[in-house]
Amino acid sequence: MKLKIENLSKRYGAFDALKPTSLDVAEGEFLTLLGPSGSGKTTLLTMIAGLTPPNSGEIYINGRRATNEPAFYRDIGMVFQNYALFPHLSIAENLAFPLRMRKMPEADIRDRVKSMLEIISLPHVAERVPKELSGGQQQRVALARAMVYRPSIVLMDEPLGALDKNLREQMQIEIKHLHKRLKTTIIYVTHDQEEALAMSDRICLMNGGEIEQLAPPNEIYDRPSTVFAANFIGQSNIMAAGEVSDASGNVTPMQAGTRLMVRPEYVRVNADVVPAHHRTEATFIERINIGPTTRYFFKSASDRVLSALVLNAQAPHDIENGQRCILSWAASRSVEIKDVGT
Ligand SMILES: Nc1ncnc2c1ncn2[C@@H]1O[C@H](COP(=O)(O)OP(=O)(O)OP(=O)(O)O)[C@@H](O)[C@H]1O
Ligand SMILES: [Mg+2]
Repeated sequence: MKLKIENLSKRYGAFDALKPTSLDVAEGEFLTLLGPSGSGKTTLLTMIAGLTPPNSGEIYINGRRATNEPAFYRDIGMVFQNYALFPHLSIAENLAFPLRMRKMPEADIRDRVKSMLEIISLPHVAERVPKELSGGQQQRVALARAMVYRPSIVLMDEPLGALDKNLREQMQIEIKHLHKRLKTTIIYVTHDQEEALAMSDRICLMNGGEIEQLAPPNEIYDRPSTVFAANFIGQSNIMAAGEVSDASGNVTPMQAGTRLMVRPEYVRVNADVVPAHHRTEATFIERINIGPTTRYFFKSASDRVLSALVLNAQAPHDIENGQRCILSWAASRSVEIKDVGT
């Protein structure tokens, strides 16, 4: 195990920024901490880095107890939202800096810097200073600098937060490319669910200083365990006991304290309901067309908004505002989730 965290916690006064939390990160894994503002992502990251002392718990890096180790000895690279390259040093010297601090021989430094500049596709900027680069190029150099000395773990706290959408998407690919090339273990913080789904081996969803769910992207999307997880990642339809039935009208049994969730892309409107389907009735309120798809919105019996995402080619005809509709989907797409965390 690359990184092992046991019952790690952080309190500020009477406030639990991180409740006792345990987590294992495998060698070479890309783990994303995802969650709303204030959920404890940065707190957890800075404790791993050695910048915030925990109130309890242990941190193991490569099997070594590192809980009280100073940051410099932890062999961890870091990239933050406001990357700070040294403004007066050339790009090559910025990349050489962490290697010099570690007393690498000069010839090896030159080779390592050259190959890193090639990996980030910026071999021609070696002699420029940071202000002669675009924001995105500077951020690429900052990523390269955090990884150039091959730290065993790289921590990234919203490293793309300051970039516009296009550049952000390019940089996501760049980071995945670096991850693949260097096989580094990466712990990445974002509050952007699409970024988390696109980049991660596993997503650690945080809520109120705790781990809400820890799973690979497709699992967390297909099988969210709580209402919070279902709402934070993707769009969801959430129904209470008594609102869902099978094709013959028998109410679908649900355990106490749970809800039934189905993603909008599985929901069909006024289609034939066959035996392996679940169904609910709802009142149509509006539709929004987005390119090739239309999103239909409904009000459920318990006054919740439900939606169906339908390809225009398969769109139902003639629905009017206020009309009662049958929403149905394959029963295997129904997920029972815990009604907690909201
Ligand atoms: N030094 C501090 N003193 C007091 N409270 C703090 C301190 N640092 C963080 N907190 C509190 O701990 C909680 C968790 O903060 P943290 O920075 O870990 O959140 P985050 O998930 O990184 O949020 P964001 O997405 O906004 O960066 C917040 O409520 C924050 O106000
Ligand atoms: Mg933060």
